[in-house]
Amino acid sequence: MSYEKRTKASGRLFERAKKVIPGGICHNLRYFAPYPFYVDRARGAYVWDVDGNRYIDFWMGHYAHILGHRDEEVVEKVSSCIRERGYHFGLVNRDEVKLAELVVELVPSAEQVRFCSSGTEAAMYAVRLARAYTGKRVVLKVAGGWHGASTDLSFGVSCPFDEQETLGLPEGVEKQVRLIPFNDWEGTLKVIDEVGEDVACAIVEPVVGVGGFIPASRKYLLNLKEELESRGAILIFDEVITGFRISLGGYQKVVGVYPHLTVLGKVLGGGFPIGAVAGKREILELGSWERKKSERVLVGGGTFSCNPVSMVAGITVLERLKDMEGEVYPKIDSLGEMLRKGVEEIGREFGVPVVTTGFGSLFAVHVLKEEGRSLRSPEDVCTYTYWEMRDKEFRRFLAQNGVCMIHAGGAVSYAHKEDDVESTLFVVRRFFEGWKR
Ligand SMILES: Cc1ncc(COP(=O)(O)O)c(C=O)c1O
Repeated sequence: MSYEKRTKASGRLFERAKKVIPGGICHNLRYFAPYPFYVDRARGAYVWDVDGNRYIDFWMGHYAHILGHRDEEVVEKVSSCIRERGYHFGLVNRDEVKLAELVVELVPSAEQVRFCSSGTEAAMYAVRLARAYTGKRVVLKVAGGWHGASTDLSFGVSCPFDEQETLGLPEGVEKQVRLIPFNDWEGTLKVIDEVGEDVACAIVEPVVGVGGFIPASRKYLLNLKEELESRGAILIFDEVITGFRISLGGYQKVVGVYPHLTVLGKVLGGGFPIGAVAGKREILELGSWERKKSERVLVGGGTFSCNPVSMVAGITVLERLKDMEGEVYPKIDSLGEMLRKGVEEIGREFGVPVVTTGFGSLFAVHVLKEEGRSLRSPEDVCTYTYWEMRDKEFRRFLAQNGVCMIHAGGAVSYAHKEDDVESTLFVVRRFFEGWKR
């Protein structure tokens, strides 16, 4: 059955939405042509749309749900918090202390942490803290890295990276942000040398998300950290996606490179809104009320920061991950590997140059324009693959056949089963059977 026939109620909702919401949606990634399906409910590895269709979901709430949708223990703890204690106080509460203790215990480089309500805010504060701490101005940002749409970081997000990303920025801000090529030490050093002594920090997703979850090499990260330190600058890891997902201690624990600051979000909130900056005490303390205004970094926090619902959900998920570490990570990583391998086999079967990237539970599918290219950065993905097909024909075909992926990839959760991966590979096979360029 065609996508439009399966999703009539979604089509009607989109028509209504377009009248009152620009373009009909509130997050650009959620659109695909002809219109996105509207979700009614979710559980485990699945979402159901308003027409009753079920999808195997690899988007998992922007990769926030490591245990799957509507985890029973999270539902129970959050419901009891709402029923018996409240859902937003705007005052300090015991749960924020507990979650902060867990972050400091689990994230190797975290001596302290400060919570806010989104990864975007956390990345914005991290960069501000870096400038204040170093007394320098220029932020190095990976070409293809995504840290939310704050003014400082709205550069070089989508292909082609050297094109203006957004209107509406204040004049001159572009001089204070420079793009560096991911996993390319020579190219990165060239940019650092050009900026000279004014580098404040580099902000890097150590497994870069939008490019397809490509991990940075240990050597690249070590070189970067050493060079920054030698210039009085700091290294920020954005582990909003990878934190608590690649391992309990994030990618930094796996790669053994420890940044000065780490930006966190997603899994940390147990499925509810959250962001956090963690790291060295002497940097984070710049944001403390204890300092006088002229010596302080303004870290706003936000109305909903540390709301008990996000805190309770975050504690529940992190504690479950701690208890089931030996079960959760091997399972999600091996399902991720099964998907990656399975998709590449399908490519070989039909003579299509399909490759996958990813790490652990994170995976992405690409079709190469030229066989044999390796993909080591978002720039490689832009240059050597048919990247536009990911959110066009691929996404639509999958949706029509009951699978939800964005950017032709996603995150496996603990709720997924081998059956879900097999069913997904069955759909992917049908897509590539008919592939032509
Ligand atoms: C690596 C990374 N950093 C920051 C953000 C922004 O987080 P949020 O959407 O919570 O503002 C995202 C969101 O996708 C992200 O993937």
